[in-house]
Amino acid sequence: PRRGLVTTPDPVHPAWLPPEAFRAIGSRRTLVLGDGLLAGTVHDEVADACARYGGRVRRGAEDGPYDLVLALTTEPLPGVAGEVRPDSAIGAEGYLLARRDGVTVVLADDPAGLLYGLFHVVRLGERAFAGELQAERHRPAMRRRMLDHWDNVDVHPVMGQVERGYAGGSIFWRDGAPRGDLARVRAYGRLLAACGVNAISVNNVNVRATGARLLTDRLGDVAALADVLRPYGIRVHLSVSFASPVVLGGLPTADPLDEGVRKWWAGVTERVYDTIPDFGGYVVKADSEGEPGPFAYGRDHADGANLLAEALEPFGGVVHWRAFVYNHRQDWRDRSTDRARAAYDHFAPLDGRFRDNVILQVKHGPVDFQVREPVSPVIAAMPATRLAVELQVTQEYTGQQRHVCYLPPMWREVLGFRPWGPDGTAVADVAGGASGDGGGLVAVSNVGDDPYWTGHPLAQANLYAFGRLAWAPWTDPAAILDEWIDLTFTPTATGDTEALRHTLHAIMDGSWRTYERYTAPLGVGFMVRPGHHYGPDVDGYEYTPWGTYHFADRDGVGVDRTRATGTGFTGQYPPPWSEVYESLDRCPDELLLFFHHVPYGHVLHSGATVVQHIYDTHFAGVEEAIEARRRWEEAAALFDPSLHARVEELLDEQVRCAEEWRDQINAYFFRKSGVPDVRGRRIP
Ligand code: GCU
Repeated sequence: PRRGLVTTPDPVHPAWLPPEAFRAIGSRRTLVLGDGLLAGTVHDEVADACARYGGRVRRGAEDGPYDLVLALTTEPLPGVAGEVRPDSAIGAEGYLLARRDGVTVVLADDPAGLLYGLFHVVRLGERAFAGELQAERHRPAMRRRMLDHWDNVDVHPVMGQVERGYAGGSIFWRDGAPRGDLARVRAYGRLLAACGVNAISVNNVNVRATGARLLTDRLGDVAALADVLRPYGIRVHLSVSFASPVVLGGLPTADPLDEGVRKWWAGVTERVYDTIPDFGGYVVKADSEGEPGPFAYGRDHADGANLLAEALEPFGGVVHWRAFVYNHRQDWRDRSTDRARAAYDHFAPLDGRFRDNVILQVKHGPVDFQVREPVSPVIAAMPATRLAVELQVTQEYTGQQRHVCYLPPMWREVLGFRPWGPDGTAVADVAGGASGDGGGLVAVSNVGDDPYWTGHPLAQANLYAFGRLAWAPWTDPAAILDEWIDLTFTPTATGDTEALRHTLHAIMDGSWRTYERYTAPLGVGFMVRPGHHYGPDVDGYEYTPWGTYHFADRDGVGVDRTRATGTGFTGQYPPPWSEVYESLDRCPDELLLFFHHVPYGHVLHSGATVVQHIYDTHFAGVEEAIEARRRWEEAAALFDPSLHARVEELLDEQVRCAEEWRDQINAYFFRKSGVPDVRGRRIP
């Protein structure tokens, strides 16, 4: 640049941590007691806030008075902090919060707990310093709360820098090298800590070229990220190629039972821990969509996962082994092969064979992050295996961060689902583990180098809520939205916080169901444009090898997955669901076409026929999108103008795309079935 011309990068939106979120803490007197890196972070966070808002912070015992004490239980605790000290352990990453005699106290057994306690106080704002509060204890339900970045190190010719990323480039990588913006990575780590995330995998599960070398000669790049994320309690994990011994090590084989291969992984892993002592572990996509795996050597996935687990074990690392294994070269003419069955068929027989530090990472549904799927039966099939449930925060199939689609209501349904019936364990408990040692919750991140982090500013709420649900899966999605709103949006000149809150709830609370209404109906899935997966194409995948079919003909639609006449997939569930899904009468409407092939005139529990339901929901979905846009336009004065403009533009696109979905789906089923809309609306 010429002298005198300074190019400033786009300012990065502060998301849910604008300076104002720290006003209450920053204007008070705080004592931080405890050593260690994360206690230092707590101190520095408070000090920054105090510099801005005039409060003060001390580290190490000193005479008060204090408004806020954040202390490790291992310290001698002064005054009120001593009085509220519990007689039993608070537990890893947990904290106790109390307020007595005008002092707010956060106690934790470890520095991570102190950090999460600090962010709890941030969420409370002024409320943290009013009245009295009986001691309450908080602990994460999931030990691992992890984000997977599908970020490519090299630019992929089709997928670009981030696979299924809708928020610009990667915050980690650019053109085969680190992006170098560590301040941005640090800010990301801070946002994640504030919602409870404690692990990140920093490269795509489809491991290519330079991405593979992060394990060896490019490990320094990973270490640099780990250094920046560590102060926020976030451990770094790495996606690795199962073929690494061949690709990187020059060995003739990657056979998991080969002695040379085992030694190679042991040596490489030791070097990883020499460089990054708190490294989290490996993430592996094997024998899936072309990625190498143990099948090539006649071995199974327990052999494969155990190989890496053995190498990681001495250092306390884990391997996240993905269960997303299916035949992507299926013959569409063959109706007996069912992609939904694949994960269970491959993995359920292996239950009990995985080493303790293997976490089997299972997509929440049996197919692929569709807007509506049943819960994966694998989650109920492997009691002797640590399971992590995988969600997709990046909105590959739910509007690609151009549509408003607040996903927590869906996640909450998944986490609250009870595979063994109403009295049985819920999915959240399986992921959490009986004694808190389950595999946890993992999600594909929706973040990129976009100034709003997530492309659509309102998609930030999905990321925030993922962390919060991984910490406390039983939280009401609307309450999480309130938290996010309170932190993110500081009152504008008009100061009308209630109106702002109403607008966002009106637009976001039901947005997942709105999206479902104008896209693929009744759980049938896909109907998206092949490749990029945005917008409608009803038959786009129908005659392809991908295993995602709807089987619509002139008489009916849906996939017969029953035991009686179909693929037998319903048999992968324990009772009562094996019976409920098998039965045409009992199957929930929203999953009908996932489990059954029915005539267009089939009458749903709602009283509508299938084809009329399709017409009705598609007209309604578009109207809801139009209404969301109207609400947003009306609320212009409540929001920052550039954020408002960005969302407005995206809502235009959402309405356009919803109309396209409506017209293609309705026209398709009208032409197939010949059944007119009972209400006589125009179908093109
Ligand atoms: C989907 C997605 C791919 C991704 C895959 C996975 O199929 O379209 O881009 O690689 O999921 O989860 O591994």
